Amino acid sequence: MDRKWEVARQIRQYGAKEKAYLAEVIDRAALSHFDNEGGFLQRFQEAFAARVGVKTAIPRANAMVALAEAVSVSGASTTDEVLCDSIVQFGALAAAYFNAVPRFVDVERNSYNMDPASLEANITERSKAVIVTHMWGLMADMDRIKKICDAHHLFLIEDCAHAIGSSWNGRQAGSFGDLGVFSFQEFKQLSTGDGGMLVTNNEDLAWIIRNKLAFSGESPKFMTMNFRMNETTAAVGLAQLEKIDYVLEHYSRTLGILNDAIGGCQWLKPRAVPPKAGQAGYWFACTWEGDKHGLDYRILQRLNEEMGIGLRFGFNQEPPYQFDLFRNAKLYGHPDCPIRCPLYTAKSPYRYQRGLCPTVEDLMPRLITVNLIFMSMEDAERTANRLQKAICIMDKG
Ligand SMILES: Cc1ncc(COP(=O)(O)O)c(C=O)c1O
Repeated sequence: MDRKWEVARQIRQYGAKEKAYLAEVIDRAALSHFDNEGGFLQRFQEAFAARVGVKTAIPRANAMVALAEAVSVSGASTTDEVLCDSIVQFGALAAAYFNAVPRFVDVERNSYNMDPASLEANITERSKAVIVTHMWGLMADMDRIKKICDAHHLFLIEDCAHAIGSSWNGRQAGSFGDLGVFSFQEFKQLSTGDGGMLVTNNEDLAWIIRNKLAFSGESPKFMTMNFRMNETTAAVGLAQLEKIDYVLEHYSRTLGILNDAIGGCQWLKPRAVPPKAGQAGYWFACTWEGDKHGLDYRILQRLNEEMGIGLRFGFNQEPPYQFDLFRNAKLYGHPDCPIRCPLYTAKSPYRYQRGLCPTVEDLMPRLITVNLIFMSMEDAERTANRLQKAICIMDKG
């Protein structure tokens, strides 16, 4: 097995508890939610809701389908716009899945999260919903974003794929929006291999999701899918949730080690953590500002290679609106469908083009990141030492 996976699995401590819970599922021979009162799906969702501090949690197959389902529940559809992040593509894809038009919002240069001013500036008469991503364990400014959504009657979806344990003003990620969406995919803090969770304080919404969108009705009244999680996944999820504090503590410590390594460096700028934000350990990120100090980015990239530091330069390389599928309107493989469909563009032509979100375009190539999922404490120390040496070499010229 590749060493990085070995480390990731050691941190997660898959073991006796997961095995015991899985054995219970098999012994009960009840692998789905059907006729399974008190099973792991129920136990996992109740424990998860308590952890996030919301009334209801609904287990899902993964976060991507949960996001798409959230768009569907928001009522956004053909001709409506869903405002979403420009640093990752997930919200935009979810919007497009139910034929809504993704409208990209710029980020704040220092936090890398959605910029509330850009959100407000992008609202049109067709805006229906907002999907805000709490990027790499740091929550977006939920005071301002929530206020804007309330003022404009926009349905608020929080993408909490990176944000279990993240908080804003003491409240957990996922508890601000109409719906919150979590991911349990392999690269997330809590992993079941694949899996997801919808959370909400709105019992009416929860009822709609469970009863109308559940693909359980004999004759669905509108477009739906099977978004459900199964009992074996929930069994692992519950076991992992019971260990999540340990896992988050580990990632927070490794994040602290890497942040300390760039302390005092004039040209690597740490990510700004707003005073109200409680950051959960996940990815380390900072920005290259060396061009403002007469330094050559390529030299740091070469040192990274030579010294085996393990930094990743740039993230996604370009904003999602520059991806071929949006820019050339090829979402479904057919040119122009659906983005340039007259239904979309008749009222407000919207083009995915360079310059749409200037801050994210400037930010992306400057981002330097390390995925902490694969880092033991020793790995973090080694990376930090090497990074500090590279900083010294750069400073000496
Ligand atoms: C921010 C964000 N949202 C959504 C997703 C989709 O998660 P999943 O793989 O569970 O569908 C990801 C996955 O990487 C993500 O990073």
